[in-house]
Amino acid sequence: MDELINIMHDEINYRDFTFRPFSLLNDAEAEAVWRMRNHPDITCWMVNSEPIPLAQHLLFIKNQQNQTKNFNFLAQFNKFPVGVISLHDVDFINQSARVGIYKNPENLTHITGADLLDGLCDIAFNHAQLHTLKLEVIASNIRAIKLYHKVGFQEEGLSREILKRGNQFLDMIQMGIIDREWKKYELE
Ligand SMILES: CC(C)(COP(=O)(O)OP(=O)(O)OC[C@H]1O[C@@H](n2cnc3c(N)ncnc32)[C@H](O)[C@@H]1OP(=O)(O)O)[C@@H](O)C(=O)NCCC(=O)NCCS
Repeated sequence: MDELINIMHDEINYRDFTFRPFSLLNDAEAEAVWRMRNHPDITCWMVNSEPIPLAQHLLFIKNQQNQTKNFNFLAQFNKFPVGVISLHDVDFINQSARVGIYKNPENLTHITGADLLDGLCDIAFNHAQLHTLKLEVIASNIRAIKLYHKVGFQEEGLSREILKRGNQFLDMIQMGIIDREWKKYELE
């Protein structure tokens, strides 16, 4: 298990992308992550939609090297930050984890969410040796749901009115994928 944790703290290359674990980020990279995460196009789809203060974010980054269950990666294309992918609550015994993803809203290149999610599946299934991935998505986040379906995720459940936004209660959809269902070849 220690070997797998060490792998998750190393840079991973997949196709034209470099996935840099948060534990290796320099200050400029850490700040780039903070800018993306606090962009209104991203926060509106997060369970925690409050802006994150920079000092709190930098402390979070500093603590990443001690992580044994939560692994976040900055995705770079030609050194440019194109998004963030995460494996949360990694259970190396049952070989499962929860997924997080966002794309740089300032990204003017051709990078798609599918590129990032494909990289995440490569890390999860080929490097971390996981068997299944789970996620929860706000039911009105059609763009993300379409992306998850495209890569091979299936809908597994619905939590009705579980998330409060202003005076509205939102539904969340549970989705999951098993290693054999990953449609990596269709994306090439
Ligand atoms: C989710 C996210 C990574 C997807 O990235 P993306 O580049 O849009 O993903 P893709 O283009 O590969 O796939 C999205 C699909 O939805 C479609 N789509 C885009 N906007 C849409 C909209 N408003 N309504 C319906 N479909 C839409 C795209 O056309 C594409 O489908 P296609 O491949 O059949 O054309 C990105 O939108 C993001 O970072 N969102 C904010 C954070 C977020 O929601 N994270 C997920 C939380 S669970």
